[in-house]
Order: sequence, then C-alpha cells, then structure tokens
Amino acid sequence: MIELVNLKKRFDTKEITKGVNLSIKDGTMTCIIGRSGEGKSVLLKQIIGLIEPTSGKVLVNGIDTVDISEKDRDKIFKNFGYVFQFAALLDSLNVFENIGIKLIENGYSKKEVLPIVKEKLKMVQLSEDTLYKFPSELSGGMRKRVGLARTLITNPKIILYDEPTTGLDPITARVIQELMYNMQVKLKLTSVIITHDVNTFKYADKIALLHEGKIHGVYDAKTIWDSKDPYIYQFIRGLSEGPIQAEIPHDKDKF
Ligand SMILES: Nc1ncnc2c1ncn2[C@@H]1O[C@H](COP(=O)(O)OP(=O)(O)OP(=O)(O)O)[C@@H](O)[C@H]1O
Ligand SMILES: [Mg+2]
Repeated sequence: MIELVNLKKRFDTKEITKGVNLSIKDGTMTCIIGRSGEGKSVLLKQIIGLIEPTSGKVLVNGIDTVDISEKDRDKIFKNFGYVFQFAALLDSLNVFENIGIKLIENGYSKKEVLPIVKEKLKMVQLSEDTLYKFPSELSGGMRKRVGLARTLITNPKIILYDEPTTGLDPITARVIQELMYNMQVKLKLTSVIITHDVNTFKYADKIALLHEGKIHGVYDAKTIWDSKDPYIYQFIRGLSEGPIQAEIPHDKDKF
C-alpha cells in the first residue's frame, strides 16, 4: 500500500505539487493523468525518492519513506521499479548491458547475468537476437521493452511507469499495454502508470486526475466514461471547452 499524504514540492518559487493525497492499493493498476507540465513525472519521482518532497508524506505499508535513514529507504525501494519516460537507455551500452547494468554494477559476472537477462527479455517478448544490439538500432517500441526488462531485473513488486506508450503507434502501444497487464497479473504487481493514452484505462483499476498540483479525483476505470465530473469528462475526451485550461499557470512565463 502506497499513501501520499499532503505531498508538496516547490522548485524555487514554482510550486508544482500542491498537496497531493492518493492511496494505491497492493495488486492494483492505477493510471495518473493530467496536462503536460502538470507535474506527473515530478510526482512519480517523489514516490520513489528521486525527488525529495518539500513537505508531506510518502507512506509505503505505513512507513514514511521521506523521514527515514537512507539504509531503511533503500530496503523499501528495493521492491520498486521505475520505467523512465523515453526509456532512458544508455546509448554506449548494448541491450544486454543496459538490462543487466544493475547486477553488473553490483559485482555479478556477465556470465551470471546473461541467463537472467535472457529471462527478462523473454518476459517482454523480445528475441535473443536483440541482446547485442545498441539502442540506436532499436525501434521506439523495442526501446520501451528494453527499458521494461531493465526494470524487471531486480524483481520489483511495484512498478512505476512514466508514459510507457507515448510515441508508439496504436498497435505497438496495445502490445505494451497487454504486456504491462499480463505482467501485473502474472507477477502480482502493483502498477502506477502515468499516461495520456486512454486505451490503457481498460486494463486499469483506478484513474487519478492530477490538476493544478492536486488530485482532482480518483475514478473507477470501468465507469470512467460514464462520469459526469466536468473535469474528467473534458480531459479524457480531449475537449477544448470545459473547466481545464490548456495553459499551466506555473508554465505561463515560458511563453
Ligand atoms: N528538477 C527540476 N527543477 C525545476 N523545475 C522542475 C524540475 N523538474 C520538473 N520541473 C518543472 O516542474 C513542472 C512539471 O514537470 P513534469 O515533468 O513533472 O511535468 P509532466 O506532467 O510530467 O509533463 P509531461 O506530460 O510533458 O511529461 C514543469 O514546469 C517543469 O519545468
Ligand atoms: Mg512527464
């Protein structure tokens, strides 16, 4: 169980996260949606401790991970996996090294790591032919799979995905959605997915809308298309008319 309690994050004078409250139950798939620049990636990074919140709590099974020693935090986050927006593969390493890097860094030999990498490669439905290719030789969909396999290497119980299907064609996106769902079921994972892709909703349990730095609402994925809440109604249909303005207040100075 992950609970975010009045979570806030400020960069200089820019307040991005303005008091987020959200509960994520074990074994569920939750999608977080919201405008571009709204602070979704910042929120996900706060969950996993890559960004330290200005205030508030990130509780994992009741333990506040913001306010504990690094050693205890590492122990908790060992169960977490993070799939970066844009896959974030290392261009100078091949697929095998990209997937196995954590184990290699921890002193395992390449010979020991190879069968583990092969197993993860199979999980993301990539053939062994890709093992010694470099990221520049891969398609967008393949990169996303490699990113996923790299996350799976530590056998996480909770996976946080940052826009796993963005930039993919609808069919490849579907394959990735099914992969995430099948892994969720098979490995009994908890999944938190930032996505703009409404097709992901049918695999999810809950959809949380981040708006103006707070969770505006949490919706049941099965009935979300029936919701009359004007915010969610507008957002999931991509309507220009409605209570959500296209412009993010804290990004105004950019234009
Ligand atoms: N390390 C940082 N320092 C300062 N500002 C930051 C930092 N990281 C993010 N921001 C700002 O926080 C805001 C939210 O960024 P974030 O990347 O979380 O948006 P997002 O909702 O993930 O958008 P997108 O859908 O485009 O990925 C932006 O205005 C961004 O410039
Ligand atoms: Mg983002």
